Amino acid sequence: MGSDTSNEKLKDKKDPHDEVMTGHEYDGIGELDNPPPRWIMALFYLTIGISILYGAYYFWLDIGENQDQQYLTKSAKHDEIYKQANTPTAEMKLLTDEGSIAEGKAIFTEMACSACHGLNGEGNAIGPNLTDEYWINGCSFTNVHDMIKNGNSIKGMTAFKDRLTEEKIAKVASYVLVSLKGSNPPNAKAPQGVICK
Ligand code: HEC
Repeated sequence: MGSDTSNEKLKDKKDPHDEVMTGHEYDGIGELDNPPPRWIMALFYLTIGISILYGAYYFWLDIGENQDQQYLTKSAKHDEIYKQANTPTAEMKLLTDEGSIAEGKAIFTEMACSACHGLNGEGNAIGPNLTDEYWINGCSFTNVHDMIKNGNSIKGMTAFKDRLTEEKIAKVASYVLVSLKGSNPPNAKAPQGVICK
């Protein structure tokens, strides 16, 4: 048989694949031990490692937030901002703690209230004195809060409702009533309005 002899010949020849043959053969087909390159294996093990960390972070340890949790966190934050922006003035109260008054003072500077009311609230050519006992629009917390919030476009008082949250308005209003009112600064503008204690 001719094919047998040619097979014999082939077997005599040194086959470069011999070194990587597994020795397993089926139907005359030998199995080659041909592992993928190291870098591909490294990548493969890396993906397995990452999947374990991912699973631990999002499922087993429950540290990461899934889509539903992210949605809830975001809407809770949004609700908080919405609530603050829509708190009725009636629910805001005069704040007397040092922290709030200090913040109110910072807002007074930041919002340039001094441009129209003087650095110490003493009043100037534009705005009235905020340190005496005479008030044009009343001196209750609600009066002052409303004035800062809605302003008075005819008389030239800026409305701050788009620039300050209710909370910040409450703080600057408290600063006006607690620190400025009754402070007697130099160069005070003449009283305007009616006496209000
Ligand atoms: C562009 C000028 C201007 C700015 C800025 C301004 N005000 Fe006034 N403000 C006025 C004028 C003018 C009045 C007087 C309104 C009136 O006659 O009713 C007034 C009135 C007030 C009153 C009521 C006084 C009263 O006697 O009834 C308060 C309180 C007040 N301002 C606080 C503030 C605070 C706090 C800020 C900063 C956050 C501020 N204002 C920024 C011009 C200004």
